[in-house]
Amino acid sequence: MEKIVIEGGHELRGDVVVGGAKNAALPIMAATLLAPGAHTIRNVPKLRDVLTMSRLLEMLGARIERNGHVLKIDTTNVDSTEAPYELVKTMRASIYVLGPLLGRLGRARVSLPGGCAWGPRPVNLHIKGMQDLGARVELEHGYIVAESTGLKGAKIHFDVTSVGATGNVMMAAALAEGETVIENAACEPDMEDLAGFLSAMGATVEGAGSKRLVIRGGRDLKPVDYSIIPDRIEAETFMVAGAMAGGEVTVRDCRPGHCTAVISKLEQSGAQVRAGERHVTVSRSGRPKPVKVATDPYPGFPTDMQAQITAMATVASGTSTVTDTIYLDRFTHVPELGRLGADIELDGNVAVIRGVESLSGAPVMATDIRASAALILAGMIASGRTDVSRIYHIDRGYEGIEKKLSGLGARIWRERE
Ligand code: UD1
Repeated sequence: MEKIVIEGGHELRGDVVVGGAKNAALPIMAATLLAPGAHTIRNVPKLRDVLTMSRLLEMLGARIERNGHVLKIDTTNVDSTEAPYELVKTMRASIYVLGPLLGRLGRARVSLPGGCAWGPRPVNLHIKGMQDLGARVELEHGYIVAESTGLKGAKIHFDVTSVGATGNVMMAAALAEGETVIENAACEPDMEDLAGFLSAMGATVEGAGSKRLVIRGGRDLKPVDYSIIPDRIEAETFMVAGAMAGGEVTVRDCRPGHCTAVISKLEQSGAQVRAGERHVTVSRSGRPKPVKVATDPYPGFPTDMQAQITAMATVASGTSTVTDTIYLDRFTHVPELGRLGADIELDGNVAVIRGVESLSGAPVMATDIRASAALILAGMIASGRTDVSRIYHIDRGYEGIEKKLSGLGARIWRERE
């Protein structure tokens, strides 16, 4: 196993380029199942989750070639309908094949993903969406088994805003006969990108990026050439790095318009932020001011940035509160930040963070993608050496993070444990 080692206390200065969005790439890869033929997907990040999705599509019968950040996915011969537990348990986004398989082949057998490090993550809305479109859905031996002799458009209302369920239903609806309306849909840019992909394939999707989606399906879809949007979470992670480590960081090839909630919190913390069309420059002098953050569905503050902003708040000049309203137990980074000297008290889903003058390096353990990022950020401002183990988590969501941070002047490298 590998770990990341950081020697803290070095200012960051320079430019860093953001890759394609993981959370858009995964559903879009699944959506290639909807149209038989050879698709080209560009700006696909090199991440473990992308590899897992590739393996799943190959198991279903797709042929995949990778050339740098370009994926060619040929779905002509897809004939299997099973997403096995062995893959799904390693990546919940595997459930995105449910809608496309049901739409194209009339059947899908997809393992239930189960919980994750931060508690239960239900899939009831995915199942309800498929039933609303006319599918028969049973739970058997830990698998969702869905069947249909022809999906039909429907009016669907989600009680809770779910990115995953919105994506799955949008994909199934693209092959359903007639019109589907999704109310209380997720507005995340990743879903807007998926809608863009479905439209490029020939479906009609109105309202992309809003809470009400209207999808007109039923037509034969065609394979397309499509480029994934920049990863806002990766971009925002580097912005927080710039706001923590002093110096000046310019994050390039991002969409500042997708990052407004995080940018506004950085400004409240006293960082200087200058946003252009496709870049954001962040600098800071002195300690951050305390912040009050609550996660919310987009355009609110992303749950995927909760751990990183918590890392910044550990050295603020006062007491911050960070509340996660999306995942109430997503705080596995808190005890690890404590090992670096942070003073954080958890009260349910609220972290109360009393800022300390400085952190001190220590061995810590990564527990999920964003928790790993938070520990790396904290390690960069801690005195001495921080070893972050179980680093395979970070490779699920950040491409070459240690190379990108080294390019900015951080002392960070990978070692065998
Ligand atoms: C969530 C985040 C997403 C982030 C991802 C990984 C939101 C709205 N979504 O997406 O931005 O990239 O975590 O960190 O911030 N739910 C149900 N039933 C379902 C599906 C979901 O009750 O069938 C609930 C979940 O428990 C959660 C909320 O809906 O409280 C949002 O879920 P969803 O957006 O689907 O989660 P992810 O796709 O994991």
